[in-house]
Amino acid sequence: MRETVKKLKEWSRDVEHYADPTAEIDPNIKYGRLIFNENLLLPEEYYREIIKHIEEHIDQAIRFYPSARTREKIENKLSEIYSIERTKLMLTAGADEAMQLIYDTCSRITDRTLIIRPCYGMAKIYAKSMRMKIEEYVIEKDYKINVDKVVDAVKSRKIGSIYICNPNNPLSIEFNIRDIEKIIESTDSIVIIDETYHEFGTVDHSKLVEKYENVVILRSLSKSWGLAGLRIGYVVAPEYIINIMRGIAQPFNISSISLIALERALEMYDIVKKTIQEIKSIREEMIRKIEEVEGVVEVFQSRTNFITFRLRDDINVQNIVNSLRKRGFYVRTSSEPLLENCIRVTIGPREIMHKFVNSLIESIYECEKSTR
Ligand SMILES: Cc1ncc(COP(=O)(O)O)c(C=O)c1O
Repeated sequence: MRETVKKLKEWSRDVEHYADPTAEIDPNIKYGRLIFNENLLLPEEYYREIIKHIEEHIDQAIRFYPSARTREKIENKLSEIYSIERTKLMLTAGADEAMQLIYDTCSRITDRTLIIRPCYGMAKIYAKSMRMKIEEYVIEKDYKINVDKVVDAVKSRKIGSIYICNPNNPLSIEFNIRDIEKIIESTDSIVIIDETYHEFGTVDHSKLVEKYENVVILRSLSKSWGLAGLRIGYVVAPEYIINIMRGIAQPFNISSISLIALERALEMYDIVKKTIQEIKSIREEMIRKIEEVEGVVEVFQSRTNFITFRLRDDINVQNIVNSLRKRGFYVRTSSEPLLENCIRVTIGPREIMHKFVNSLIESIYECEKSTR
């Protein structure tokens, strides 16, 4: 066999894929879909306005290639909304593409990355696909980052990039920004901060980009803006990195229809902000409710649009997930460290969440009864 084909076949056997949970879900289910941290509170009218705008611009939305002018207008608007210097922002096809681009960029000059876990699974998949060597640091048992350990690892193992997800998925908590800043200060490795959930948290990491040359922020419009289907996110980074990313990315990475839709969505930030506030309020109420559920031993202080909680270790989490599913609720477990026997549930509308908590109580009761 020829060498190239042989090597690619070897790679093909080893390649890791995203385990896509949408395969298990009926796409018509709306409120029981508490699995992807989408925004389930935005009113239908928000989406109807977007559709109306697309209909009024059919050629630009579908017939034509994406417009550089529309893209520029959107990047301007985002930098205005979030007070980010215009030259430090680039639109991407979801935070996912932003992650792929920054790993692609880093992999050309350094082959080692440090992933701070627990975290979103795609960092590892992208780094691996760029054939990088992956080092891992698992946060401490009190859910804090030991800065010295991270800095030591970066220095001793010649790490060129560090990935950290804050607010954290799947833990839901927020790490101390001072700890993150200490890591940034102590190294010239690129610190990639996945800030997909920032609007539900208390910290704005994008300000770090003004201060340091080695910080890259990944953001998404899938969660707070409720636009997961359009695949839009953006990256905030120093200009020299944005310049490389624009060189590496496809020229039309954002589809015309997504650009046109976003043009209208961005005019409705007030509606989005209202739902963010509402989600935060439901979150606090639900954390208290879930804490009272018999069989739940820990509920994390969420700074995201989901809640993560732990079941007593004699309760089989998979049985509870299956039982919730029978009652119409899809939730997630995680194989990340520190998340044994945990469930992650997206925050939906208040009445749905009340039903969810009742179903959780019933499911735990039923599972306990069957094992007695
Ligand atoms: C932490 C984190 N980063 C990135 C993403 C990907 O977001 P996007 O839909 O913008 O690609 C997700 C999606 O769930 C996420 O949870």
